[in-house]
Amino acid sequence: GIATVEKLDPAVIEEASLPDPLRDAVSYAVLGGGKRIRPRVLLAACTAVGGRHDAALPPAAAMELVHCFSLVHDDLPALDDDRIRRGRPSLHVHAGEAMAILAGDVMLSLAFQQLTTLPAEPGSRLGRALSTATTAMVVGQVHDTLGTGSDERDDATRLQLIHESKTGALFRAACRMGGICGHADGPAMDALDACGRSLGLMYQVVDDLLDATASPQQVGKQTGKDAAAGKLTYPGVHGITGSRRIVESLRHDAHEALSTLDERARPLLDLCDELSNRAR
Ligand code: IPE
Ligand code: IPE
Ligand code: MG
Ligand code: MG
Ligand code: MG
Repeated sequence: GIATVEKLDPAVIEEASLPDPLRDAVSYAVLGGGKRIRPRVLLAACTAVGGRHDAALPPAAAMELVHCFSLVHDDLPALDDDRIRRGRPSLHVHAGEAMAILAGDVMLSLAFQQLTTLPAEPGSRLGRALSTATTAMVVGQVHDTLGTGSDERDDATRLQLIHESKTGALFRAACRMGGICGHADGPAMDALDACGRSLGLMYQVVDDLLDATASPQQVGKQTGKDAAAGKLTYPGVHGITGSRRIVESLRHDAHEALSTLDERARPLLDLCDELSNRAR
């Protein structure tokens, strides 16, 4: 799965016939050593309902393009101001801030262009799933970066909502889009949706834990930044031990959600386990 998605990317970028500096910037951000987790989730969800991978490759590329765009903008000085990403300079450090903003813009466009290669059905359903999730991601980034305004709910509640939006939504969409590609029926879609919700929140809780406990060399990005920036995080609200317990509970929920599916769900179950104790 991952190798195939890796191979698809250069063509996705070449086909767009962008001017050289913009193409180079997009290539830097998309081909720059990301773990390709969301495409793996999408393909594993497709497999879980008996679907074939070839039908799921354009949506998997679309998903990864949205994710890479989100990281380019997340690192900008006006957002997290991170100068290292995936073990090397962030795109705005490498190519300048204007190019990073514009490269992010075009990556979002290229993402949705991927879906136009598909027939109207499932293309329009996939487009709806990805656009809904992208909007939720941006809303989550607004709340993460600018606060949740006059929201009177407690920290734990607001934190969960931020994480479900800024990161969880794309994971949930990855599961749903895999299900759409695999022609999942209603109950199977519900199972994948529930799995994606737990898995997506879990992924960001682990990201928060790594920020609080890992070295920059280990994760390829600066660590200890969330606390320094005064961000609302799981370790900040629930402690390190409490956050680890929440990860285990979400991993369990993700497994439970898939209990109605058959043995074809094994790769997705294994991926949930892998992501619950990832070290980078
Ligand atoms: C980092 O995502 C940002 C989050 C939403 C947690 P990944 O951990 O998937 O980053 P890459 O793509 O592998 O660099
Ligand atoms: C990123 O969350 C969420 C996005 C939508 C990009 P973080 O800001 O914690 O991600 P990292 O730690 O910079 O990768
Ligand atoms: Mg951020
Ligand atoms: Mg960040
Ligand atoms: Mg982080």
